[in-house]
Amino acid sequence: MLRQKLAQLRQRLLAAIGLGILATAIILVADYLFNDDPAVRIPADRPATRLLAIPPLLEPTDEDGVARYHLDLHAASHNFLPDRATPTFAYNQTSILGPTLRLRQGDRIAIDVTNHLDEDTTTHWHGADLPAAADGGAHSLIHPGQTWTAEFDVIQEAATLWYHPHVKYHTAEQVYRGAAGLMIIDDDNPSARSLPSTYGVDDIPLILQDKDFTKTSELDFTLTNYGKGYYYPTLTANGTIDPYLSVPAGLVRLRLLNGSQARLYHFSLDAGKTMTKIASEGGYLNRPLELERLTLSPGDRAEIVVDLSDVDRLVLLDDSFGRVLELRADPTLVAVTTPLPDRLNDIERIDPSEVDRSREFVFDSVGKGWGINGKQMEMARIDDTIRFGDTERWTLQSVSGWHVFHVHQTQFQVLSRNGQPPEPADRGWEDTIFFKNRNKIEILARFDTYANPEIPYMLHCHILDHEDTGMMSQFEIVKDL
Ligand code: C2O
Ligand code: CU
Ligand code: CU
Repeated sequence: MLRQKLAQLRQRLLAAIGLGILATAIILVADYLFNDDPAVRIPADRPATRLLAIPPLLEPTDEDGVARYHLDLHAASHNFLPDRATPTFAYNQTSILGPTLRLRQGDRIAIDVTNHLDEDTTTHWHGADLPAAADGGAHSLIHPGQTWTAEFDVIQEAATLWYHPHVKYHTAEQVYRGAAGLMIIDDDNPSARSLPSTYGVDDIPLILQDKDFTKTSELDFTLTNYGKGYYYPTLTANGTIDPYLSVPAGLVRLRLLNGSQARLYHFSLDAGKTMTKIASEGGYLNRPLELERLTLSPGDRAEIVVDLSDVDRLVLLDDSFGRVLELRADPTLVAVTTPLPDRLNDIERIDPSEVDRSREFVFDSVGKGWGINGKQMEMARIDDTIRFGDTERWTLQSVSGWHVFHVHQTQFQVLSRNGQPPEPADRGWEDTIFFKNRNKIEILARFDTYANPEIPYMLHCHILDHEDTGMMSQFEIVKDL
């Protein structure tokens, strides 16, 4: 009798364990299928714990009228968490990321980049209008111990650009480990004079990257999640986890950069506040644009102004992570309170009747990775040749997955999205644009600043694991077709 009871009990126990395992398996599979965002949310109702790091400004030396900068890329060590050193990549004296370069329109500049890593790198100036030899694409390799120099004239208007490596197969990992920095261009635009512009005080750079850590505090890098872009659970802003910053009790400009591998950010402010977008990737919008929400895809930048004149605290939120940054109003700091100007820029729409040539770019999976127009990136193959001076219409289309189109050297305008004219937020100069599966986007671009028949520029998906697994092609701009 007792023995029978025991046997019964054992069977029930085993059945229960079996059910438990099955249930856990179902939850894990469902989690994988329906929720690939492991974001760790930061509750916005308790104070943030760490002071936001501000990347230092890099001072140039003047050499016969050329502003000369030096960047040293090296392996570094950064304390994301107190008492825990994490190996990172960094430029110059920073422990992660790099200093901010501040350039003036009209200047001639030279940037020397020395590679102290034990792997190849390149340095690409994302969003910059410059000659192919200075672009720092996949062909401009800097081998360990070498120095490469980019020399060019700053011909474009005020904008927030960034720099990062562009090595075939290794861009995602180098950027993830911290090889990235901002490049701000200033100009004499009189309408912008009243905007908050004191760097680190009321003009705040914010480089957003998601990270994952191993048990021993190393950065855990994963290139891809079965073809889906890889999302990491921990948000960092300028390398700081859970940051706050004291700012003047007035208008504050944030220069947002999505420096993540694959993640999109959906920003908003707490307490029902709105933000005002003043600049897209290539410069100021024609008019400030009030927004409740702002989405940034990988590689994308936006400049927004937020107002702390009637609050003592304002929180920048993201849908996945909760709090991104807590701003604390400090009434002892000098505040900009002048209302934003009505007009900031005078961008004229490119007229589609100017178009000299049209091209199509279809984004799809190819082989084990990704490709454009059915092909994976090939260093020795030039995919498109563009005649110098031409205006082109490009149709971008995804037949599988979400993508972020990015083109080097030029800033484009969105002509249409799925047959509709662009939203006001899409009416500035752009160099990256996000689109979903089955979306179709038309853009217009002019190629009238530089030509070089020997060195190509790149266009690619800025979801970095897509780029690294083939979704990139090359074009050259030539004077004689
Ligand atoms: Cu942000 Cu081809 O680069
Ligand atoms: Cu670029
Ligand atoms: Cu893609």
